[in-house]
Amino acid sequence: MKTKRIIILGATGSIGMNAIDVVRHNRDSFRIVALAAWRNREKCEELAREFGAKAYAGEDAALRAVEENEADICLVATVGMSGLRPTMAAIEKGMDIALATKEVMVMAGELVTKAAARKRVRFLPVDSEHSAIFQCTRVPNTEIDKLILTASGGPFLHGPEDLSKVTVAEALNHPRWKMGPKVTIDSSTMMNKGFEILEARWLFDVGVKDIEVVVHPESIVHSMVTFKDGATLAQLSPPDMRVAIQYALSWPNRLPAEREKLDLAAIGRLTFERPDPVRFPCLRLVKEACEKGGCATAVLAAADEWAVKTFLEGKIGYTDIAKTVEECLEAAPEFACDSLEAVWEANDWTWKHLSR
Ligand SMILES: NC(=O)c1ccc[n+]([C@@H]2O[C@H](COP(=O)([O-])OP(=O)(O)OC[C@H]3O[C@@H](n4cnc5c(N)ncnc54)[C@H](OP(=O)(O)O)[C@@H]3O)[C@@H](O)[C@H]2O)c1
Repeated sequence: MKTKRIIILGATGSIGMNAIDVVRHNRDSFRIVALAAWRNREKCEELAREFGAKAYAGEDAALRAVEENEADICLVATVGMSGLRPTMAAIEKGMDIALATKEVMVMAGELVTKAAARKRVRFLPVDSEHSAIFQCTRVPNTEIDKLILTASGGPFLHGPEDLSKVTVAEALNHPRWKMGPKVTIDSSTMMNKGFEILEARWLFDVGVKDIEVVVHPESIVHSMVTFKDGATLAQLSPPDMRVAIQYALSWPNRLPAEREKLDLAAIGRLTFERPDPVRFPCLRLVKEACEKGGCATAVLAAADEWAVKTFLEGKIGYTDIAKTVEECLEAAPEFACDSLEAVWEANDWTWKHLSR
């Protein structure tokens, strides 16, 4: 495989550090040209020294890292809205996008997928669910009947009954995955799974009504595709994000890796159940935003970003996250979603509305 040049946005985070581990073990296959972080300048510079790459830190670091460097792949692994402009800039420069920051698709899926098609660049999914689907679908999507996204169910799958008293520490205690705080809270409310429905809708061009969620607490089956002939393909691996990250970077090749392989006999049982719509109202909110159309999903993502931040600061309760998003969706004016500026306008409206 020819050595690929890589830019990592969000290098100091959970996905970023896993990606760096993948590169450390495959130095002939990948060369990091630039790393971007936000506040963690020192760690970013230390990593950059290790790889002979350029380091960027600060509010506009991700965008500058893209604008000032050439690469084959840009790994977008920042948080929330911050991934949008750098993703668009990387597409315009002809880089393939290894996408972890799903909010990019939630807020501006149509705009970024159209831009990618125009520039003939690919989205290579990093989310384990979308990587699973990507690995199962080397066929035209006219053959797909439905996508089945698996969900771990997070820390509150069956209890406590009263979610309003949940603390920040409890919500951050994910049973399977070690991730950054925003995506961990989103996983506990299942807003993350809702975002993944929208991400899958744009990545694979499948209607939202044909995307199903099934809870699978063991997190071994990462997602499935059912085809029109009734066959279902699934991708299985231990819950380790490096599998999906490495595949996004090495695609269409697979590189060997010295890590735990699946031992199904040791696991014994894999279980599946339907998500409880009362415990997890965010799944319904995502579908409602989708039906509303325009920039409603951008309002959804912005309201969630505000609500999760405010919950983490201890200023609102856990169940206020879904309530905040619902109230915003009801109050939001209609924004046409035909440009990045329109997406920013929806984002700004939401933050102003919530900070009033
Ligand atoms: N972690 C997972 O297993 C996982 C799985 C699937 C998808 N994802 C998605 O991947 C993305 C990253 O998740 P994560 O868990 O790696 O998050 P994280 O651990 O919180 O790391 C976030 C990274 O982005 C940087 N960052 C944060 N805010 C930024 C901003 N405003 N502008 C530029 N950079 C910023 C951080 O820099 P500093 O360190 O300097 O603050 C850090 O490097 C999220 O969108 C998440 O939904 C994560």
